Amino acid sequence: MSDTRCLDASADETSEEPDEVPVAPPCAVVLFGAAGDLTKRLVVPALYNLVVAKRLPETFRLVGVDLVEQSTDDWRSKLTETIDGFVGAKGSEFDAERIDEAAWSWLRDRMSYVAGDLNDPACYERVKAHLEELDRTAATGGNYLFYLAVADRFFGTAVDGLGAAGLTRESEGRWRRVVIEKPFGHDLDSARELNARILRTLAEHQIYRIDHFLGKETVQNILMLRFANGLFEPLWNRDHIEHVQITVAETIGVEHRAKFYERTGALRDMVPNHVFQLLAMTAMEPPSSFSADAIRNEKAELLEAVRPMSEHECLSATVRGQYAAGTVDGRPVVGYREEPDVADRSDVETYVGSRLLIDTWRWAGVPFYLRTGKRLACRKTEIAIRFRQAPLALFRSTPVRRLTPNWLILRIQPNEGIALEFGAKHPGPRLVLGDVRMDFAYEDYFEMAPNTGYETLLYDCMIGDATLFQRADNVEAGWQVVQPILDAWGNAGPGALPGYAAGTDGPEAAGRLIARDGNDWRPLVRHRKV
Ligand code: BG6
Repeated sequence: MSDTRCLDASADETSEEPDEVPVAPPCAVVLFGAAGDLTKRLVVPALYNLVVAKRLPETFRLVGVDLVEQSTDDWRSKLTETIDGFVGAKGSEFDAERIDEAAWSWLRDRMSYVAGDLNDPACYERVKAHLEELDRTAATGGNYLFYLAVADRFFGTAVDGLGAAGLTRESEGRWRRVVIEKPFGHDLDSARELNARILRTLAEHQIYRIDHFLGKETVQNILMLRFANGLFEPLWNRDHIEHVQITVAETIGVEHRAKFYERTGALRDMVPNHVFQLLAMTAMEPPSSFSADAIRNEKAELLEAVRPMSEHECLSATVRGQYAAGTVDGRPVVGYREEPDVADRSDVETYVGSRLLIDTWRWAGVPFYLRTGKRLACRKTEIAIRFRQAPLALFRSTPVRRLTPNWLILRIQPNEGIALEFGAKHPGPRLVLGDVRMDFAYEDYFEMAPNTGYETLLYDCMIGDATLFQRADNVEAGWQVVQPILDAWGNAGPGALPGYAAGTDGPEAAGRLIARDGNDWRPLVRHRKV
């Protein structure tokens, strides 16, 4: 069995330090939702990691805003407790072995807190007065990044409030940016309305719509793999690729988020955003440059080229499912309907599978199978590209009955890496083929710093690089594809929602969907290192 290390792309040659990354410009980050989960689990740990990496300027300031009445000291102490709680917390997003006290104090000393209600115009006036004070005392340069880590129903309200307080006006080189979390809309109409509403206050260049999948190194690497290597691009088309499978499988259930999930379901939660980002990165045309707009143009074009489906086609090209009780990682777990805050007869899907076609010269006739779900057999996000068979004629008069398909597997998470599966001759006098795999693992080549996935995204906002953020048309293009499916499901009524036992590969109907083309899903098994 072969291994990339055998190719002697020696770690010494490949691990050259990338160019020094400059410190972000002076600025204040204003975190709305400062007492919330996202702040604690991801945003503050990511800022801490940026301090450790020396990416934040001396004059950096972090202002927390939330409904909770508390002092700056209270907020700092609570976050200190949270950060300390991460040490040794295996499996959490912020998996730190220890906290660098100097780095944490650096950040903690730069935090301040303003209590306020986003529905109250006085809140924004207080934030404004606070920021002006910081500009005078800390020289934040008048640059503000407003991060909306709040429920989606507040996105429009917060942008209106910031605008009314004059906080979004850019002048004399000072920038004002707003980061908007997901979900961006609930369907096509609401996404359009939200875009229209925020664009009344902000210019597009001030809006950073986050999709945290784009913060993952392995997702960013899809473009490097495709466009920085002469090897792959010539093969990246219908002549050589037979089909593509994109999988985002999770073992977690709905956890404590049922109130959100009951309104959302797997399709809205994962597909127009995360899954379509993977699809767009895999299938888009080469951009004319690596500028934010060139890349976002290509992504929008790709999603616009997804073949529209009639209601009937939507029903036959998609599969829904809901997890029932089962066993995950050797532990019994309850079914979705038994989870707290889930309706007894909920018909919300926790699994979605679909088959899409892309109407471009590159992809004509190549099916893209997408699936995502909770409580599946293993946690695995991957893009699996299956190449066409070699002409069989050559082997006709030999004992080789079966040619192994060639697969290129991009492992997004966990066990980040890339594998190439192909057939090789078994040693010996007989002509027998064996399946072999060349496997590259990131951790073997690069030092993997602890990372929540938000570091790059936050840093990019500060330096004004919107490449990894969604433009208005990108978001709408995603919903445009999903909307007919939502409509078809809605019109079909509650009907039978196929169940699948927790800990399995999903509903059987998903197997039938892909089998119609004579294909199979790749089994959901944990990655094995070669
Ligand atoms: C979120 C979804 O956007 O992404 C969650 O709302 C999902 O339901 C999560 O679990 C998956 O992200 P990650 O980074 O853990 O793969």
